[in-house]
Formats: sequence, structure tokens, C-alpha cells
Amino acid sequence: MEDVIKHTGETPSFFQLYLPNDRELAASFIDRAERSGYCGLMLTADTWTLGYRPADLETGNFPQFRGLCMENYYSDKNFTKHLAKPAHEDQAAALQHYLKIFVNSLSWEDLRWIRTQTKLPIAVKGIQHPDDARLAIENGADVIYCTNHGGRQANSGISALQLLPAVVKAAGSTPVMFDSGVRNPTDAIIALALGATAVGIGRPYAYALSYGGAESLTHHLRSFLAELDLCLAICGFQDIAALKQAGCELAVHS
Ligand SMILES: Cc1cc2nc3c(=O)[nH]c(=O)nc-3n(C[C@H](O)[C@H](O)[C@H](O)COP(=O)(O)O)c2cc1C
Repeated sequence: MEDVIKHTGETPSFFQLYLPNDRELAASFIDRAERSGYCGLMLTADTWTLGYRPADLETGNFPQFRGLCMENYYSDKNFTKHLAKPAHEDQAAALQHYLKIFVNSLSWEDLRWIRTQTKLPIAVKGIQHPDDARLAIENGADVIYCTNHGGRQANSGISALQLLPAVVKAAGSTPVMFDSGVRNPTDAIIALALGATAVGIGRPYAYALSYGGAESLTHHLRSFLAELDLCLAICGFQDIAALKQAGCELAVHS
């Protein structure tokens, strides 16, 4: 996490927290995120049990089991102190320990505990139901993140977009971020008009990266923003604020 933040420039960056069941390690992750300059914590709440993912099962795809995506753990003494040998020398033992601490069913009490550990804003990611939005706010969330994890959890589950209006209503003045299935600027415009404060893109960024690295990703994002700007103009809105205002008025009248 300390390496990535150095490259984010002026772009606000969240640290995504999978809360380990080891509180010392959890506190250390939160502290490291705060000290290294992240502007908020993104607490993922919807993947404590993974959905049935045939493509991942077919290829045995879980990067951590191959020792990938583990640097935040391997660079933390609250993780490494439980290992007999350095993590890179005995990855099997390191992963066994990771499996022990990763098993955690997140509760509202955990969210209240995280709240006591940091002044950073906390976004709770994985909210789909208005009651959960209300409970998350009551228990310390500053931002609600409405998502169905890109449809990667429940096959044939209800789309996140359908659930967004009720979540926005329940969240009141609390900002609501949104993702899942945003492929075109028009998708983003619809989510913004339905009350999302910000919209995230998941897989398209990875597709762009795999096609041609950072250059392709930059091109993709620029094209996305240019089309969004054009589409706003064609719909008669000067900017996103005007779109959101019109979305609010529509919601009030419907
Ligand atoms: C390969 C992959 C890995 C992901 N890993 C995480 C994760 O570790 N934590 C998390 O909160 N979301 C994770 N997500 C979900 C994304 O953050 C995001 O919610 C989702 O991809 C948005 O939907 P979209 O891909 O349809 O745009 C992952 C998504 C993909 C495709």
C-alpha cells in the first residue's frame, strides 16, 4: 500500500480493507493506510463467502494461493511474527497463516471497532438493501457503496442498478458510490441520475490494461470521459451537477 500511494498524485485513493480476524494486524493495516496518505478506507463486506465461480474453479484461480497479492501481509510485522521463516522463503506456511486470519464473518460490531481505530472516512462496500445502508451509517460508515461485486457473487442475482434508488433514499445525505456493470458512459449517467455520488468501473479497466498497458487504460478513461461529456450535452445538461439536480427533481415528483 505504501508503494501504490506514491503514484496516485492528486487522485483521491481508498485503501481496500478485508478485515483480518487478527485485531493487531487489522489495526496495523488501518494505521498504515492512514499514515501513508489514503483518503479513506473501503471496507468490503460482501465476499466473506465466495460465490460459485466456474471459470475461477476451472483454472484454480485464487492469486493468494500462488503467493500473489500478499505484499501488504508480508510487509507487516504483525503478520510475519507468526511465521517461523520469512514469508518469501516458506510461502506454504505463510499462506496457511493467511487462511487462518482471513476467515472472518464481518459484523456491525467490527465496523464500530474500525470506527474507533481511525479518523479516515469509511466506505462500506457491498450494500444492496436500504436497511443495510441505514445500519451501516448507524454503525459508523461515512460512505455507502452500492454494488453486487460486479455480479461475481450471486449468479442471476438482482442488478445493483435496480437496488440503487432505494439505497440512495435510505442513505439520505450520506454519499453513495456505485458500481457493477458500468460499461459505457450512458450507464454512469443513469447511475448518477438515480442518485449515485460517484460511479466506479471494474473490469473495463482490467481489459484495457491487458490490451495495451497503461497507455490503453489512459485512452479508455479519456474516451469514457469524452463520451460522458458529449452525452450530458446531448441530454441537455451542462455538467454532472445539473444532471443530478434533474435526477433529484424527477425522484421527488415520481
Ligand atoms: C477479478 C476481480 C477481483 C475483485 N476483487 C475485489 C476485491 O478484492 N475487493 C472488492 O471490494 N471488490 C473486488 N472486486 C469487485 C470490484 O471492486 C467491483 O465491485 C466490480 O468489479 C464492479 O463491477 P464491474 O466489473 O462489472 O464493473 C473484484 C472484481 C474482479 C473482476
